[in-house]
Amino acid sequence: MEKIQLPNQAPAAPMPVVIAGALVKGKENYLAIGAYGIMSMQPPLVYISSMKAHFTNAGIKETGYFSINVPSAGLVKETDYCGLVSGRDTDKSTVFSTFFGKVKHAPMIRECPVNAVCKVVKTVELPSNDVFIGEVVEYYVDTPCLTDNTPDPKKIDPLLLAGHSYRKLGGVAGAAFSTGKALIKKP
Ligand SMILES: Cc1cc2nc3c(=O)[nH]c(=O)nc-3n(C[C@H](O)[C@H](O)[C@H](O)COP(=O)(O)O)c2cc1C
Repeated sequence: MEKIQLPNQAPAAPMPVVIAGALVKGKENYLAIGAYGIMSMQPPLVYISSMKAHFTNAGIKETGYFSINVPSAGLVKETDYCGLVSGRDTDKSTVFSTFFGKVKHAPMIRECPVNAVCKVVKTVELPSNDVFIGEVVEYYVDTPCLTDNTPDPKKIDPLLLAGHSYRKLGGVAGAAFSTGKALIKKP
């Protein structure tokens, strides 16, 4: 297969879309984030990379907390809206119904099936972005989205961002930590 070299940029790969939440001057604000990822399982650390100009950043810096909310594909309009308008000009506190866990500094979205409260443990300052690394200190899942007590991706139906389109999950391609065993050479 012939390959073509493209100008340097982050390689095209679908990313999960989450909605991060924070209290900014005491009011709930939500923004869409594609640059989200898991950094370690134990302790459970995640990151979001948010452009310095975003209104939400001030709230995360002020309180030391943010929330991660995983929207279902049915929330695509509201998710995109939270990525189009800034809390600096538009009140986004009523787009969703907010709930709080034990920590009162991280607003979470009731309509999203998966939610987490993250306590900032480190902020990496890039020229354009603040990368907030947070430890998950509370984790919630809608009970109908569980199968055998585990969050079920099919039921959660998360949104993926691929290029300029939102995608949904396709079918199962293999079993993690198992399918590759077929290539392990036996002695
Ligand atoms: C699908 C999608 C993904 C986005 N991902 C990011 C991201 O990873 N980092 C970022 O800084 N902005 C991202 N944005 C842009 C912000 O969500 C957007 O600028 C938002 O209006 C900022 O809100 P705020 O000013 O209220 O914080 C994304 C927008 C969309 C629609």
